[in-house]
Amino acid sequence: ATVQADSKITIVGSGLIGQFWAMIFAGGGFKVTIFDIYPEQISKALENIKATLSRYESQGCLRGSLSASEQAALVTGCNELKKCLDGASYVQECVPESVDLKRKVFEQMDPFITEDMVVATSSSCICVSQFVGNLSHKHRTLVAHPVNPPYFIPLVEIVPGPWTLPDVTAKCRALMELVGQSPVTLSREVAGFALNRIQYSIINECWNMYKDGLLSAEDIDKVMTDGLGPRYAFIGPLETMHLNADGIVDYCNRYAQGAYNVCTTFKPPPIMYDVPTAEKMLQEIKKAIPVDKVQERRTWRDERLAALAALKRNLKEK
Ligand code: NAI
Repeated sequence: ATVQADSKITIVGSGLIGQFWAMIFAGGGFKVTIFDIYPEQISKALENIKATLSRYESQGCLRGSLSASEQAALVTGCNELKKCLDGASYVQECVPESVDLKRKVFEQMDPFITEDMVVATSSSCICVSQFVGNLSHKHRTLVAHPVNPPYFIPLVEIVPGPWTLPDVTAKCRALMELVGQSPVTLSREVAGFALNRIQYSIINECWNMYKDGLLSAEDIDKVMTDGLGPRYAFIGPLETMHLNADGIVDYCNRYAQGAYNVCTTFKPPPIMYDVPTAEKMLQEIKKAIPVDKVQERRTWRDERLAALAALKRNLKEK
């Protein structure tokens, strides 16, 4: 089961993530309609999408086989929700992260959802069951959580709700693969999905080590950027175990006791609204990246992520 190649995809909420989704689907050759509660945001988003696609084209990182202008022509705006959803086979909701707002938007969409539509939310933390319980089409909804910037970080976490039909989950996953994203499917809802559960366990340990005065903020980040990060761009932690011994069972026989001993020294999760620790970190971090240079640094990051995505693509083709 997959979404037909010539079908229409609707984006509801055309901010940062909505625009990325529009470019990803246009890259896959789909007709995309974007909606927003503010009509001026739709025009702004369309202009931004056009300019970004042409920048990606000149930088050599445009996706798909169509030119930037052909892709931009696939994306249109519409400021009437009903018309926007009419004939769509896939909807990606991208409104701000608030349960009440998402509930409102899904209630507004419900009468226009058809039995061949898949309706996904980009929600980073909120499980779909928290806001679709009263809908008549709740079985057609699920989470498809992207990672910023989704154009260069392909992971999408697919999290079905308790009522989601298996066919809806399968269609969403197939579509993600078709447009070059890298989907993973959770079997059921869990707080933080998978990425943030892993990310928070890393942040917790970084925070605790910093608070204990074990390493500087710069050196903690270096453990990832020059240590675990490069490895994890190619192989995950489980494959790492497999390769670091003669298979994962051998790894466990050799290292499980040592790893367990280390883990027993872990502290409980830190309370990160401990602002004095954050203030202390800021004093260190801002020497390299002053707060008014954060936007510049985001651009720097995205350029590097684009280069890494291109490298991974080239390595895969070989
Ligand atoms: P954003 O603030 O950039 O965009 C939200 C858009 O929704 C705005 O254009 C706003 O005008 C529009 N909007 C507000 N109320 C609306 C309504 N009732 N109907 C239609 N449109 C409405 O937010 P962003 O960052 O794009 O986030 C969207 C979703 O994606 C959130 O659930 C967020 O958690 C998730 N997400 C965000 C990531 C990020 O790094 N920013 C990463 C992954 C997921």
